[in-house]
Amino acid sequence: MQDPKYVKKAFSRIADRYVVTNHVLSLGTDILWRKKVGRMVADWEPETVLDVATGTGDLALEIQRKCPDAQVTGSDFCEEMLAYAADSGVRETVVADALKMPFDDDSFDVLTVAFGLRNMASWPDALREMRRVIKPGGHLLVLDFSLPTGILRGPYRFYLNKVLPKIAGLITGEGDAYEYLAGTIEQFPSGKEMTDLIEACGFANAVADPLTCGVASIYTAVA
Ligand SMILES: C[S@@+](CC[C@H](N)C(=O)[O-])C[C@H]1O[C@@H](n2cnc3c(N)ncnc32)[C@H](O)[C@@H]1O
Repeated sequence: MQDPKYVKKAFSRIADRYVVTNHVLSLGTDILWRKKVGRMVADWEPETVLDVATGTGDLALEIQRKCPDAQVTGSDFCEEMLAYAADSGVRETVVADALKMPFDDDSFDVLTVAFGLRNMASWPDALREMRRVIKPGGHLLVLDFSLPTGILRGPYRFYLNKVLPKIAGLITGEGDAYEYLAGTIEQFPSGKEMTDLIEACGFANAVADPLTCGVASIYTAVA
């Protein structure tokens, strides 16, 4: 569970370097993950999509490309990040805390959240709030980091805790923000632990799909 004041400040400090740092640190893999999410969302043929914690809007833009007729809204509580989303072409942006969103019950066919839930002050409260705004029968999709299982787990944790903050520090000058990132990935539930949490928050049929040896995962569920 994370401190919202720290999170908001950390993202406002790195907003201008966020996208390029992501692509460097993930060697471009984050682009492929968001493209996969875009295809999955398009298969659901939604009319309305909310991308929560949209940040600089990379996922909302991908969904706009794949679902040109859908109304796609990006929301985030960090105005500096959201300004980049609006400038990049996200058609509708709303400044909002994911734990208390200014949307009516049952508003969206699909709700996505990429690399955002992990940063929130209460994962169950955030998931229950997401459930509230998704239409019954609509879809939740969470994309976030996870820890690989098996022999890759040790080397990956070394990279995450020791190497990544140093490289990110050189690019952004904010190495401590990336030490924070590593800590949040260590704490965040993954696999069955996450699907159980999602179902405990009112969703059905939660499924986990590990990506790139389990470095990230996509979770889907039905409201
Ligand atoms: C790592 S960025 C992810 C941005 C984007 N979804 C992506 O895929 O690149 C995390 C975002 O979550 C936002 N965030 C964290 N907690 C939030 C909350 N409680 N409400 C709204 N946004 C939040 C931060 O401001 C930040 O923009």
